[in-house]
Amino acid sequence: MCKIMPPMAAGLVVFFFAVLFSAAAGGDAAVVEHTFVVNQVRMRHLCNDTLVTVVNGQFPGPALEATEGDTVVVHLVNQSPYGITIHWHGVKQRLTCWADGAGMITQCPIQPNTTFTYRFDVTGQEGTLWWHSHVSALRATLHGIIVIRPRSGSYPFPKPDVEVPVIIGEWWQRDLVKVDKNFSIGGSFDDNPAAIAINGKLGDLYNCSGVAEDNFVLDVEPGKTYMLRLVNAALFSEYYFKVAGHKLTVVGADANYLKPFTTDVVAVAAGETIDVLMVADAPPCRYYMAALANQPPVPDPQIPVFVSRGVVQYSNIPKDAKNCTEKSPLMPVMPDQHDTITTFYFHGNLTGLQPGGNPLLPQVRGRVDEHLFLTLGKGSMCTNNKTSCKRGGNPESFEVAYINNVSFHLPDTTAVLQARYYGGKLNGGRGAVPVQDLPSRPPRAFNFTDPALIPVVPGGKMEELEPTRKATMTRRFAYNATVEVVFQSTATMQSDSNPMHLHGHDFFVLAQGHGNYDAARDVRSYNLVDPPMKNTVQVPRLGWAAIRFVADNPGAWFLHCHFEFHMAMGMAAVFEVDNGPTLETTLPPPPSDLPKCTR
Ligand code: C2O
Repeated sequence: MCKIMPPMAAGLVVFFFAVLFSAAAGGDAAVVEHTFVVNQVRMRHLCNDTLVTVVNGQFPGPALEATEGDTVVVHLVNQSPYGITIHWHGVKQRLTCWADGAGMITQCPIQPNTTFTYRFDVTGQEGTLWWHSHVSALRATLHGIIVIRPRSGSYPFPKPDVEVPVIIGEWWQRDLVKVDKNFSIGGSFDDNPAAIAINGKLGDLYNCSGVAEDNFVLDVEPGKTYMLRLVNAALFSEYYFKVAGHKLTVVGADANYLKPFTTDVVAVAAGETIDVLMVADAPPCRYYMAALANQPPVPDPQIPVFVSRGVVQYSNIPKDAKNCTEKSPLMPVMPDQHDTITTFYFHGNLTGLQPGGNPLLPQVRGRVDEHLFLTLGKGSMCTNNKTSCKRGGNPESFEVAYINNVSFHLPDTTAVLQARYYGGKLNGGRGAVPVQDLPSRPPRAFNFTDPALIPVVPGGKMEELEPTRKATMTRRFAYNATVEVVFQSTATMQSDSNPMHLHGHDFFVLAQGHGNYDAARDVRSYNLVDPPMKNTVQVPRLGWAAIRFVADNPGAWFLHCHFEFHMAMGMAAVFEVDNGPTLETTLPPPPSDLPKCTR
């Protein structure tokens, strides 16, 4: 397989990274090649055979392991009955937007019994990312980890002895395509996963007629250091993760290094990855690791409590240590499922390892070209395209989620990027995908975090705020613009948090807060010195978060909440970044095998 590189995939930041990382370089960049066959298999859990759509027969799917600077080539062979795309979550895709895999944003789905080859570089980023399908809710079973190791072989912390993926996912026994349809018209509270899994194992809190499901077991040797690469691949929920008897040192998130800090509990938002070090320094025994979903308290509608556990098992347990050899390892004391403060502080504690002292690493730009204030919430639309109807939960209307009061509509015929690239030439030009500008602010101000908005009741305070509409909303940025976005969670979407994810760019998370954002007051709390660099920001419930990034990657990049139901309901938009002035800052043409749009 020949190596195909985009012409000069080197923007400034990437160039600096390359210099930095290859100085002590160990070996040349390689091509990491995989074939992903998507098909349907039956898997048995909880006494049920369930037909699931997976890659290469595995749940979770195969790991993609690369070294910084490598080229990744994945041949996607679709033997499932569904149109499929695969998104490489967090991969910057510099000048390879065509390989981003966002269904109807960068490409049309790969149709059943067809193939497509994804090619991209993993340059200027190290750590843990993941891949998942990006059409409907199928990503529940179509996902896997991406590990990018440093080319120099050394980490900015003592090298761990063993690296372990810890993928938190859900086990669904429902038709996920139907679940996705339900989400898009407001969802139903029956649409819940059957269980939670750690690395595909449901764990012994779940059973089939009394026989416990297998636990994920991590065998450890005393004194060794384990790097746990945590991925939250769930469609719903943020998770708290703990290991009984052990401390965890957080060293990275979203494939960016962090200033290390030690904690006993980690919060991992939907879509987010967190890397932690765990030293096996406890008395030799068996310990549970556990992942527990948090949710806001009532009056928010409640979903069942979801918790799964695995086992950390020492190699040198003395034979007479009864407590350790029998059934019940020590269970960590988990936060309450309604505790949403622990995550607030956990995420607030993250600081980046790209301090001002190192001019070779990306700095926070002080000058901001574009300020966006984006409200995240829920409204309603009338059924049958009517313009007026009863709302407040009445069946004459259905609920949709929005950004600045417009609910995102996925294009029907052509992907946004194709329509833009081919301009006048494709299906009558850009008109094939009618787009509207994402406004910089919401159409009206209200007390965004007023708890009185939370209960969904006829005649509730919410009703007058409800009317909204659908559109394919994009926002265009000049090449190299510095963009600041303040995300404001609103109580129209009950008091949910919103894990907002941007494709194609990492961003600095400058600050977060509770309540309504107030620029005059809150800009002062911005961390412009060592903010963490992320691709997903957990916007706190009834609160806000501010991010800043440089729009230096031409293409069409999806921005959305990583809760699948929020996204399917329309909490999404597209950031379009213009080409720069040179060939090195211009998006190359699409690969020739890019799937045809059939609709
Ligand atoms: Cu992991 Cu568009 O998402």
